[in-house]
Amino acid sequence: MKIFIDTANLDRIREVNSWGILDGVTTNPTLVAKENTNFEALVKEICHIVDGPISAEVMSVKAPDMVAEARKLAKLHHNVVIKVPMTEEGVKATKVLASEDIKVNMTLVFSAAQALLAAKAGARYISPFVGRLDDVGQDGMKLIAEIMNILDNYDMDAEVIVASVRDPIHVVEAARLGAHIATVPYDVLKKMFAHPLTDIGIKRFQDDWAKVPKK
Ligand code: G3P
Repeated sequence: MKIFIDTANLDRIREVNSWGILDGVTTNPTLVAKENTNFEALVKEICHIVDGPISAEVMSVKAPDMVAEARKLAKLHHNVVIKVPMTEEGVKATKVLASEDIKVNMTLVFSAAQALLAAKAGARYISPFVGRLDDVGQDGMKLIAEIMNILDNYDMDAEVIVASVRDPIHVVEAARLGAHIATVPYDVLKKMFAHPLTDIGIKRFQDDWAKVPKK
C-alpha cells in the first residue's frame, strides 16, 4: 500500500520524506490556509521535495472553471494531481480532464454511489473520508470495503486514497482491505512507529550491552 502525507507543511513533508516511506502528498484548502503562503509556489516546492503524486484542489464550482483552474495547476509540475470535489460539476470536469490525461483525485467522497460515479468519469484517484464518516456515527472503513469490492467487480483502474485518517488503526484496516493508498496526517504517521514494548526492548538491550566488556 502506498502512503501519502496529508499536509501542506514543508517541514513535515521533508521530515517524513527523509524516512524513505513516502509515496505522495495530499493537500486541501484548509491545510494550505494554515501555511499562510502562495498556493502555487507551495505546490511547486512540494513537488521538488517528493517524487510522487501531489494533490492540489480546485476551488471553482462550475465545470468549465474547474477545468481551466486544473489545467493551470497541472502545468506547475508533471506530478500534480487535481483534487476535484464530488459534485455533478466535478464529475463533468473530471471527464474532460481525464480525456486530456490530467489526473484527478475526486475528493469529499462519502458513499459508494459517489465513488462509482467518480470511477466512471475517469478519476485516477478516489478519496473517501473515513474519519468524517466515523464522526457522524457511520463506519468509514465499511465504505472502503464497499468501494474496493465495486472497483474489483469491474476491473476499474481508479485507486482508492483512504482520507480523513485519524489513527493507525485506519491505516492498518486500509491495508487489510487492499486499499491502494492511505493519506495520513503527520501525527498519525508518528504514532505508527510507537509501541511500548519496542521502547522497553531497546532500553533493555542498551542496558545489557553496557555490561558487555569492551576490551
Ligand atoms: O485531505 C482530505 C482529508 O484527509 C481531510 O481530513 O481530518 O480534515 O477530516 P480531515
